[in-house]
Amino acid sequence: MNPTFQHDVLVIGSGAAGLTVALKLGDKLNVAVLCKGSVSGGSTYYAQGGVAAVLDSSDTVDAHVRDTLTAGAGLCDENSVRFTIERSKRSIEWLIQQGVPFTENENTETEYHLTKEGGHSHRRIIHQADTTGRAISNTLVTRAKEHPNIEFFEQRTAIDLITREKLGIKGRGCFGAYVLNCDTEHVELFRARFVVIASGGASKVYLYTSNPDGACGDGIAMAWRAGCRVANMEFNQFHPTCLYHPHAKSFLLSEALRGEGAKLLLPDGSRFMHKFDHRGELAPRDIVARAIDHEIKRLGCDCLYLDISHKPKDFIQNHFPSIYKRCLSFGYDLTEQPIPIVPAAHYTCGGIVTDLRGRTDVQQLYAIGETSYTGFHGANRLASNSLLECFVFAEAAAEDILDQLEYVPAISVAPEWDESLVTDSDEDVVISHNWDELRRFMWDYVGIVRTDKRLQRAEHRANLLQSEIAEYYSNYKVSNDLIELRNLVMVAQLIIRSALSRKESRGLHYTLDYPQTAKATKPTLLTPENYSD
Ligand code: FAD
Ligand code: SIN
Repeated sequence: MNPTFQHDVLVIGSGAAGLTVALKLGDKLNVAVLCKGSVSGGSTYYAQGGVAAVLDSSDTVDAHVRDTLTAGAGLCDENSVRFTIERSKRSIEWLIQQGVPFTENENTETEYHLTKEGGHSHRRIIHQADTTGRAISNTLVTRAKEHPNIEFFEQRTAIDLITREKLGIKGRGCFGAYVLNCDTEHVELFRARFVVIASGGASKVYLYTSNPDGACGDGIAMAWRAGCRVANMEFNQFHPTCLYHPHAKSFLLSEALRGEGAKLLLPDGSRFMHKFDHRGELAPRDIVARAIDHEIKRLGCDCLYLDISHKPKDFIQNHFPSIYKRCLSFGYDLTEQPIPIVPAAHYTCGGIVTDLRGRTDVQQLYAIGETSYTGFHGANRLASNSLLECFVFAEAAAEDILDQLEYVPAISVAPEWDESLVTDSDEDVVISHNWDELRRFMWDYVGIVRTDKRLQRAEHRANLLQSEIAEYYSNYKVSNDLIELRNLVMVAQLIIRSALSRKESRGLHYTLDYPQTAKATKPTLLTPENYSD
């Protein structure tokens, strides 16, 4: 018999969202936190720029709301935007209480240094030099590991949720998850009164991405299979400036560089962003990434350049120590020369539909952080609003779970994973081949600039892959790669369907067939009952 576990709350993910909800619940409930690989394997650890929040006395909630709505290009839910930004200050205060060592100000006006990024009308990004995510992750992991009620399970990949439907009970509810232990290769049963999906985004669906390897949209795919709606999956954010180098794995060059004065240059050394937007290098990300893509294609070159070398050497080394060192390791000196850059997939704006308490369409199932769709980001996320959303919605979900406690009993029965009909795979090459194929056609056909024809091509291929993988999945033992591929294909289908249904260009979705922005719009909502996956 494989191990089974029982907790009050199962949190799938140990990034900013998962760690925060665990810490908010740990005093009252026992919490299991699962993560693929190690605790710091999610995007949170790699965040550079910082967290957007209204902290300066000359800044206002209204201004941050306005900037978020402008970047979101008419598709943000204003209630969600206001809800999140009104709670920004207290989220930062909580992080400071936990011990996050944000960079302090050299002058005395405000205690902490605030930087600027594209689309923000104020300096409002609190950060720890250029390794904010590492500082947040290390601090919250340490706190959570000290907590007697929080138990970490590393090297665990959640496969699917245990729902009422699976137990043959009427209605929609969630009781836990089946989880692959990647060390023992056995499937374990995690039962819980509440399940929180905090599994991050899905940018790994693209060939080039700033995201770490686990960003496969597992949570979105699991929730979809459990009956949850997803929204706005067509809005995939491409970060304009990732290091162009064959061995750099799309290393990010933070937008804070442009916030502190870095210029974008063509290969001949001339600036070009003013031709695309009056805000130049500090226009929202969708505009900057599209402009770079346009210039690369127009000139037939491999990359463009980012240049901050006009700033004093010690300023660059103090503000961007990690980026400076990383570029140097590839032979580029940030203080002396322009750095080659290209855009890469960075953030999934859409996700599992939730309300303002993180509740999904399935009872006792919550979704928070990048995996969720709360209406906050609309058609394009404003820089550094993502971490903020993680903290605010983790707190909201924790409050809701505590409010629901007395109504949700512990569940003691759930069937074990059945492996009796499957065998070991003798054809792992199928998985690696399909991984590559999927990520390449998503990059080529569903990238920064789309057309109906390209999307239809991609849909055809995704559907073929889906049926091949479904057959593979029902015949062979699960592995981490197979679970991820199955989820990535599903996420790809959701992205393509959403993109095909949007007959306009807006925010991050740009199509040559409908280049205009429609007058009226609404979020793209997909409902599982309408599809046969
Ligand atoms: P993640 O931090 O991605 O964590 C996901 C967790 O889920 C991981 O622990 C992973 O192991 C686990 N997981 C996934 N699938 C499974 C599964 N099937 N079973 C078990 N566990 C699973 N945003 C900002 O606001 N400011 C920034 O400065 C910033 N910089 C960024 C820089 C980079 C390079 C990147 C990639 C992103 C950046 N972002 C930034 C975006 C932001 O970091 C992420 O959106 C945010 O960290 C997501 O947090 P999360 O908790 O939702 O998920
Ligand atoms: C960056 O530092 O440029 C990333 C910020 C973000 O993704 O919000």
